[in-house]
Amino acid sequence: MHEKSATFTYQLYTGTNELAPALESLIERAYEARENAYAPYSEFKVGAAVLMDDGTIVVGSNQENAAYPSGLCAERVALFAAKSAYPKRSIQAIAIVTNTGKTQNEAPSPCGSCRQVMLEYEAIQENDITVLLAGSEEHIVRIHKVADLLPFGFTPKDLKKP
Ligand code: THU
Repeated sequence: MHEKSATFTYQLYTGTNELAPALESLIERAYEARENAYAPYSEFKVGAAVLMDDGTIVVGSNQENAAYPSGLCAERVALFAAKSAYPKRSIQAIAIVTNTGKTQNEAPSPCGSCRQVMLEYEAIQENDITVLLAGSEEHIVRIHKVADLLPFGFTPKDLKKP
């Protein structure tokens, strides 16, 4: 038996002004998008903004439904919109924001399905995707790549025949 471990390093920022201007405005766009969340059931509003390689930003917010599983998280609304509008562009970063103070880690934590969707888009492009999680302008977590959030992740290469 060999015991192994998987760890990752992330950064905690205590002000948006500590970030590069492109990432600072990405967070701002995610907060604007959050205003359009439709979350009457959970009352947990989330905004997301995706930065493409040419600087284009595509936003999304969580959209719920009385038939609960029919709703979708902010991240996937933004990611699917981005990749359906610009299938050939790569994703540089995604900002995911709330400001409810309800989350355990003070910043939103993407669900497993959103991590899986982000991982696939990262796996099919050259560059890693920076993930920013903000619970307030004073608490921003920066993760270098989606793969850090999903160790032992399942990607398209796992489906390839030998
Ligand atoms: N939600 C998101 O949109 N993103 C997350 O990262 C966590 C959860 C949504 C789904 C649902 O509409 C509400 O927040 C409560 O789970």
